[in-house]
This record gives sequence, C-alpha cells and structure tokens, in this order.
Amino acid sequence: MSTATQVDTTTQARAALGYQIHSIGQFNFQRDEYFAHIKYPGGSHIIPIDNFLRSLMRDVAWGFFYGTVNFDTVFGTINHYGTVDMFIGLLNEAYRTSNQHYVETFDSKDLKRVFEGMLDDWTNEGFDPFAAPDETGVPFGRKHGNNKRAITRERMVAKRMTGLPGDLPLRSDAAGQPINRQFTDVPQDAPEVHAEPGFEKEVHAFNAFAYVSRSDVTWNPSVLSCVDDSQFCATTEEHILPITHGNDRVEWFIQATDEIIWDIEDGKTGRPRAKVVMKAGDVAAMPADIRHRGYSPKRSILIVWENNDGSLPKRYSSGELKPYPVEF
Ligand code: PHB
Ligand code: FE
Repeated sequence: MSTATQVDTTTQARAALGYQIHSIGQFNFQRDEYFAHIKYPGGSHIIPIDNFLRSLMRDVAWGFFYGTVNFDTVFGTINHYGTVDMFIGLLNEAYRTSNQHYVETFDSKDLKRVFEGMLDDWTNEGFDPFAAPDETGVPFGRKHGNNKRAITRERMVAKRMTGLPGDLPLRSDAAGQPINRQFTDVPQDAPEVHAEPGFEKEVHAFNAFAYVSRSDVTWNPSVLSCVDDSQFCATTEEHILPITHGNDRVEWFIQATDEIIWDIEDGKTGRPRAKVVMKAGDVAAMPADIRHRGYSPKRSILIVWENNDGSLPKRYSSGELKPYPVEF
C-alpha cells in the first residue's frame, strides 16, 4: 500500500468517529479516540486529547494570553496582539538545530474562530476542560454530545466591586456556588465594614479567599483587582497547568494557600533552569525569558500579578529591560 493510501485510510477511519477535520493555513487538525493529530508541511505531531483540549480551552479563553502558550514541548502559539504565530518546534532546541520547525502567522480573530470551532466539536458531553481531572468526566472515545456550557463560560465583570449595591452578587451556596471539596479549610468569615454616615454605598469589603474557594475552574487567572496596568489575578489550581507558559514580560506569583511546584525552563530552548517549590506565603518573580508549568498536588489559591503595559514585550525582547525585576 502506498503512503498516500495509508494516510487516506487513516483519515477516513478517524472521520468515522464523528469528529470534523479542522484546518487553517497549512495546518490540519484531526482527532481520534485518544489523540489530536497535527499535520503541517514536513510532518505530523501527536498530543494526548485530554491535554490538547485543556490547553486549547485556555488559549481560546485567554485570547492567546501573554507571550507563548506551549501545548507541549513542540506545538504552541505566540501572541503578537493582533496576529498570532502558530508553530511546530520553534521553541524546541532539537527541532531548531535540525531545521525541522514550522511557523505560520494568522490574524488572531481567524485562528480564534478555528480554535473555537475545534474545541466545540472535539469536546464531548461530560468533559469540562477547565475542571480538575477528579471533578469531570473523560474526553475519550467517539464523538458524543457536547459541553457548550463549559467551554463558553464568561468571566463576570463587576462595575465597581463585587457585593456593592447594584453590582455583582457575592458567591453563595444558595446561588449554586458551593465551597470546593478541597477548600473546606478556607475561612468563610466576612470583614466588618463601619462606613461613615453617607458612605454606606461607597465603602465595601469582602473575603476574597471565601469568594475564590467557590471557583469551579482550575488554572484560569481572573482579574481580582485592576489599577491602570496592574492586574491582580486570583486562580484556583489543582493537578497540572495544561500549558507551559512563556511570558513576554516579568510576572509575579503569590502563593496564597497550599503548595505549587514549578518546572522552569529556558523560554527559547526548553533547557531546564530551576524547580521552584512555592508554599503558602511565598512570592516569586518569574523572569521574562523563561517558561513554566505548575503542579498543584492539592487545590490551592495562587495570585498571578500581571503588568498589562503593551510596550513591555518589545522592551524585553530588545534587551532594553533586564529579564528579571530586581538586582541584588
Ligand atoms: C501562568 O502561566 O503564569 C499561569 C497560568 C495559569 C494559571 C497560573 C499561572 O492558573
Ligand atoms: Fe506564566
């Protein structure tokens, strides 16, 4: 049998499972019961479907995020804020040295549309790519149903502050947002607010730990407070960050509860650089030239502090700014 015929039979067998083929530029995506297959000029790459969908969910929901989203050591996207590079092997030393890498640049909105379609088509009923593995069904098998509710979640945006009159309500059991099974030790008390007369509708406080302990998603930073470009993002972490994030600026982590272990690698080559174990109360600055993936053995609360200043990627990549924030 010729190679071409073999490929066709495989494609047909995959099509019989009920999933669509998704394409953009010279990239072609197919899924079978266990894997995503990415074809590109020069070869094909395989990623387990659970990790692929979890990574895809985040790339879509975060609008390609800051800098690089590596689905694994080979495939990923780089955000240029308007356009986005999709690559095979671009940030993999072995692919680069043997000139086996492949990159195409797309308008962000075009790639987002293809990614959204693929995520919707490939996510089966019962699988939530944002949920911890122990809190969701599996993504495997032939196509069955969908989970549009899970993959089109939108963050709720407060006008001024959650809990103020006329603004977003605080989370409560009654609203169907129970405390997560692993956060039963998070204190639920509320701060006392004593406003001066006349300022009762202006002064407000709530227990952010209690609020976040009711989150039903993992590895999904959401803006908790925003002052100019300074964004404090709270997130609840359990199991593995599905992507390896290569930032285009410095990013700070504040471990609010429990523990996360981070693998830190060189952002361009993937060479290992450090293991960082962060326990509750620890603060770390992640340099602008690394990539990282976190492991949270028990559900934990992490604060990610991002600087949203759009001039930073160029200032770091040109060498104007050092990749780390402090010189000791
Ligand atoms: C990160 O890449 O910095 C990151 C992403 C998602 C998280 C936490 C950290 O939930
Ligand atoms: Fe990061």
